[in-house]
Order: sequence, then structure tokens, then C-alpha cells
Amino acid sequence: MKIAMVGSGYVGLVSGACFADFGHDVVCIDKDQSKIDRLHDGIMPIYEPGLDALVESNVKVGRLTFTTSLAEGIEGADAIFIAVGTPSRRGDGHADLSFVYAVAKEVGDSLQNDAVVVTKSTVPVGTGDEVERIIKETGTAHKVSVVSNPEFLREGAAIGDFKHPDRIVIGAEDEFGRDIMHEVYRPLFLNESPILFTSRRSSELIKYAANAFLATKITFINEMADLCEKVGANVQDVSRGIGMDGRIGAKFLHAGPGYGGSCFPKDTIALLKTAEDYDSPTRIVEAVVKVNESRKRAMGRKVLDALGGAENARGKKAALLGLTFKPNTDDMRDSPAIAVAQTLTDAGVEVSAYDPEGMELAQPLMPNVKMCGDPYEAIDGADATVIVTEWDAFRALDLEKVKATANAPVLVDLRNIYTPDDLRAKGFEYSSIGRN
Ligand code: UDX
Repeated sequence: MKIAMVGSGYVGLVSGACFADFGHDVVCIDKDQSKIDRLHDGIMPIYEPGLDALVESNVKVGRLTFTTSLAEGIEGADAIFIAVGTPSRRGDGHADLSFVYAVAKEVGDSLQNDAVVVTKSTVPVGTGDEVERIIKETGTAHKVSVVSNPEFLREGAAIGDFKHPDRIVIGAEDEFGRDIMHEVYRPLFLNESPILFTSRRSSELIKYAANAFLATKITFINEMADLCEKVGANVQDVSRGIGMDGRIGAKFLHAGPGYGGSCFPKDTIALLKTAEDYDSPTRIVEAVVKVNESRKRAMGRKVLDALGGAENARGKKAALLGLTFKPNTDDMRDSPAIAVAQTLTDAGVEVSAYDPEGMELAQPLMPNVKMCGDPYEAIDGADATVIVTEWDAFRALDLEKVKATANAPVLVDLRNIYTPDDLRAKGFEYSSIGRN
């Protein structure tokens, strides 16, 4: 199979490299000349564990190539994936589809053979219909089938997720589309990955429904955590207790500072917009969006409490450990750390921080925060140390050194990576999420 991947960002590059690794012939296309130049030099535009080695080995055997020319890249391709960004549109929160539609037009204009065009970007219901209309409108003489194939990759675990997915969802409206997609994913059947063929609209909605459901699960357990603190229960036990029910499932029940990242915040809001457009409100998701947003600043207030209350916090010092929205990424999009830092600096607290990968992207988002070279430099003189993101590097801090370096042995653990009794026995004033 020959595959063209239009858009060499996160989803496009990971998917392209994995398809090449499965033996397909893949061309990754991107308009950004410097990105393509860097890829030719083996420099990845994103941080994702294992990606550089995967790209390198497939480039070496000639199965993975890069170009800025869409017309050249799609020549002879059986499947053309559209994997460009669909950011939130400024002002109204709808997904911005201008990049997707521009690619559709260019594909239609340049097509030299019959092909399946696959939307891999997260796109609202009905986008496939519009992509099909745009391509037809170009007057192309070739047969085109437009298919939806959403991606469920998690940052930091994207290659594993791609190669061993819980399921592959394909929304196709005709035999040609289904047959080509079957061939594209054939190598994954060997891993016994289940494949679900649906209509195009169902497939488009599955992606949003899945992300909204996971965001709901997280938000639900976060509210349970708050209740646990009030009634003297332990949220980790509650998670385990409910998660053992197969109907509920144990995953995505870790209470924390609220979800962030490139998908959940954007996709939940886009789903609300679709629901509004079709006059079919999704009130649960509305509540999830609101609760999650307010939670992030509430986490800042939790730190202020640990500093002796907002009225006493001015001039004190807090150290934030972990800034990215989750570990193993440099992604700062909608990270709870941004709201935590803002709440603290608003209250006159001096904030220093350390993150293993995220500080470069974090600095412009939190200009008043001092970025440090390691955790202990950040903790130096701190009145409270806050674990915001559960990087492995923070799971085994030298607690004696923390105590000796900080101004006060106060630890706020927003990810529950330490045990309350242990930390208190070691002389810390310790607070966490949903545990007393
Ligand atoms: C998510 C989806 O998991 C993935 O299928 C989709 O394709 C893109 O969005 P990602 O954003 O990379 O992936 O990260 P994920 O691991 O899902 O975490 C999202 C956020 O939820 C993070 O902020 C994380 O800290 C938070 N989270 C996750 C929790 O607070 N508790 C949990 O139990 C799980």
C-alpha cells in the first residue's frame, strides 16, 4: 500500500511512522519547510518517546519519506490521510476546519489516480460530507471515497497505542473505502486489534463521545475526591472499589488537578457546539467543562491554604514540580499548572518551577515563574512544594534533602503519588487529593 499523510504534526507523524513500520510505503507531507528539513535531519518536531528511533529506522530502509509538495506526495497513493490541526476557533469554540478543507481542495486539484481520502484529524460530525463535496467540486475525474478514521492516541504512549489499539474505528460509505482501509490496517489484525466499521457520521461522533466520556469519568472522580476530603474517605479506595465493577472499569479514575492537554478541553467544547447546532444539548458534558475549568484555579487555592491562607501568602514562596498537562510530554496546552501558577502569583506568591521537558513551552505562558535546573533548585527556600504533574522523577524525591532545602516541610501532592502516613511520619505537613 502507498499511504500519503497530509500534516506531519503529532497524529500525522506518529501514524505515518507506524504505518511505515508495518511495511507500507509512506510519504509525510507538511507545508512547513523547516519542519520537513528538520525531519530529513532526524530532528522530531514533537517530544514523543521512541518516535525518533522509529522514524530513523524507517527512513533508512526507504519506507518513510518527507516532502512539502502535496501533489508529489499523494501521487499513486491508495490512501490519503488528512491529519492537519483542528484547533478551537477563536471566539466561538467550534473546531476550525479551514486547514482540513484547504487540504481537501488541494487533494481534489492534484489527484492523479483513484484514492481513499481519510480524515484522521478530529472533526465534527458532517465534516466527511463536506470534504467529499469539496473534492467533487474540483471536478476530479478519479474515483474518491471519503472515510473517517479517528485516532485515539495518548501523548507519551502514542506508538504503543497505535500498534496495540483497543479498537480501530472506520466510518466508510462504500465498498472501495472499506476495502482499502482493510488493507491499510491488515498488519494490525495480526495483533488481533478489533476493527469496527460504521457509517462516516457515527465514526466522527465516536471520537468526540469517547473523549467526552473519559473527561466525564475524570471529572466525576475529581468531585468524589472533594467529597472524600469532607467526609473523611479515601478517593483511591473509592476508585478501586468502583473500578472493580466491570461495568465501570478501573481506568481514568485517578483524581487530580483536572484534565488538560490537546484533546479533552478542545473536543468537549467542540462537542457542545455540535450539540447546540443540532438543538440536542449534552448537559452532562456542559457540566464537565465548567467543573474542570473551575477546578484548576481551585487547585491554586489549595496551595494557598497550605501556605496559611490567601491573606498570609503574599511574599511566600511556592515550588511547582511538573508543569506539563501530564508526564512524558512537553505539551503545556490547558495544563492545570498554568492556572495554579496564575492563582499563586495573583496572591503575591513567588513561584519557582521545574519540569523535565516542559519548561521551554511553559515559560511564555507563566512569565512570572522562575524556571529552575532541577527540583531542588526550585524547592530552595520554598514555603510549599507542589507536585503538579506526576513525572517519575518526582516519585522518589530525596525527602530529607527536600526538607533541608525548603523553608518549610510543606508538600501539596496534586497527583497522590505519596502516602499521607509516610510523609507525615517523615515530618511533612502533607496534603493531597481526596485523602486526609
Ligand atoms: C487523550 C485520550 O486519552 C486519547 O484517546 C485522545 O486521542 C487524545 O486525548 P491525551 O490528552 O494524550 O489523550 O492524555 P490522557 O492520558 O488521556 O490524559 C488527559 C488528561 O486527563 C491529563 O491531563 C491527565 O492528567 C488527566 N487524567 C487522565 C486524570 O486526571 N485522571 C485520569 O485518571 C486520567
